[in-house]
Amino acid sequence: MCGIVAYVGDKNAYPILINGLKRLEYRGYDSAGVALINSGALNVYKCQGKVSDLEAHTDGKDKAGTIGIGHTRWATHGPPNDVNAHPHRSSSGDLVLIHNGIIENYAPLKEELKHRGHTFKSDTDTEVLVNLIDDVQRTEGVDLAEAVRLALESVVGAYAIVVLDRKEPDVMVAARKSSPLVIGIGENGEHFLASDATPIVEHTKNVVYMDDGDLAIIDRHKGLKIRNIKNQEKTPFIHELEMHLEALEKGGYDHFMLKEIFEQPRSIHDSMRGRLNLAKGEVVMGGIKDYEQKFVNAKRIIIVGCGTSWHAGLVGEYLFEEIARIPVEVEYASEFRYRNPIIGEDDIVIAISQSGETADTLAAIELAKSRGATIFGVCNVVGSSIARVTHAGAYTHAGPEIGVASTKAFTAQVTVLTLLALAIGQKKGTLTGSRFYRLLNELEAIPAKVEKLLKNEAQIKYIADIYKDASNALYLGRGFTFPVALEGALKLKEISYIHAEGYPAAEMKHGPIALIDEEMPVFVIATKGASYEKVVSNIQEVKARKGKIIAIVTEGDTVVKGLADHVIEIPATEDPLVPLLSVVPLQLISYHIAVMRGCNVDQPRNLAKSVTVE
Ligand code: AGP
Repeated sequence: MCGIVAYVGDKNAYPILINGLKRLEYRGYDSAGVALINSGALNVYKCQGKVSDLEAHTDGKDKAGTIGIGHTRWATHGPPNDVNAHPHRSSSGDLVLIHNGIIENYAPLKEELKHRGHTFKSDTDTEVLVNLIDDVQRTEGVDLAEAVRLALESVVGAYAIVVLDRKEPDVMVAARKSSPLVIGIGENGEHFLASDATPIVEHTKNVVYMDDGDLAIIDRHKGLKIRNIKNQEKTPFIHELEMHLEALEKGGYDHFMLKEIFEQPRSIHDSMRGRLNLAKGEVVMGGIKDYEQKFVNAKRIIIVGCGTSWHAGLVGEYLFEEIARIPVEVEYASEFRYRNPIIGEDDIVIAISQSGETADTLAAIELAKSRGATIFGVCNVVGSSIARVTHAGAYTHAGPEIGVASTKAFTAQVTVLTLLALAIGQKKGTLTGSRFYRLLNELEAIPAKVEKLLKNEAQIKYIADIYKDASNALYLGRGFTFPVALEGALKLKEISYIHAEGYPAAEMKHGPIALIDEEMPVFVIATKGASYEKVVSNIQEVKARKGKIIAIVTEGDTVVKGLADHVIEIPATEDPLVPLLSVVPLQLISYHIAVMRGCNVDQPRNLAKSVTVE
């Protein structure tokens, strides 16, 4: 998954491109580059490394020009190096292109182009695309926009591209299919293009989200034209962004991840805003209004997602089955899309995705949709691809999540799923009025309880320091907190590179207990609730093998305190809401261990914020 940014207007493009790329580095950061057109010259600067390395690389070079494109890469074809970095230039030297996605039929296209005299420097599929457009332009004698359109007719795959031609120095041409692209409409004929709105919002709030198949032609004098997949001109629909610039800054925190962990009282509150009405004792989910009956009558709900979103979906399974008494299956989107699942018009699919751009989740949606299922999206990015292809949905309103490791998005997703389960359960009468009100009151109180438990940070940091050199870790939970154990393990491994596994606490006896020794930290969620006594027994089993226990307990717990090596107290709440509280200490432990290990917390190695390729 990569970051794309482009500019045409009356200002110097270079600083706009560089700042834009820095906002997009969370999408991929193994190499970066820019291309600028100035007085007939087409200058391309690119190198392996981060955007700051690119800035050093361009020192002393000609960076003038009021039209340009920029790219930060997460390698798919060809290793991260200077040659494979984008932008890629056609062998004629006239065209230059940046790309997010995968050209699946690049190999045969490359062979054909070689036969037609084109030469290649890189291993990438992108270089094939820019030479294909160049070839079409020369062969057909057409302008850049038409050449892009015709060339894409032979392309199979996913792309968001922006192309420049030094023969047409006032024009940018962009196209998208399955990878996001947003157009910013500035003042005095200025136009911006980017993979999402974060590089655009500081310049303009007026944006157009390109649809699949759209071709955008931006001329600094003639303005913006968009053609749809049938090559018909379409009127751009201009959205006004609600995002604010300060949401994109670190706000005094050392890392975006820490900021986003501490934003959770507000982001959880925002995900409930306008949906939970305590005075009226009701939950109003605008997104399901037209499908409420379908949910009430649902014989089955299938939840699809990846990574952290899949973990939120697993909490959703416990929520819907316990509160709304609807059978739920939770599927990894990447497995679901390829196993020819049995799915039909009676099924509801809930697709969960922070970015709204995850390729596997998008593909799972398309498959389910093609078989008549109703698709409900739970996304965080407004206007994202998933948000636009689902029948209905609910935004999580967590605000931009920049840190690659998902934190506030998870708790916002779980909050939305909780609201959904309560709304349906109330309609179906599957929970008593008193339980409904108790859960509603407790949910309303969650932001304040998160605020309170965040005050434990110093203690959590102390514990992190003890276990920062561990080679392995085990996370145990039961019932509602089993998915939290999985999420806690994912957090640790993806930012500190310590191997970690999440397990149902009882299941540990069926194998993983063999791993327990005095070197193994075991994080156990042992809060008061239905399975508390059972978890205490599991803790004793670990203790008997000299495992180190770090337990997340309910405030005032004395039993586990007498058994564990460390306890982290969280406020009491209803069982179904424990995931919202118990995950936070695990996020903080992972964060501090990763920092103490000198890891790049916001941009962990090999990872990207949104995996828009298979
Ligand atoms: C979580 O910390 C990871 N960054 C990753 O597992 C992520 O949750 C997954 O790629 C799904 O992303 P999405 O929610 O944007 O679809």
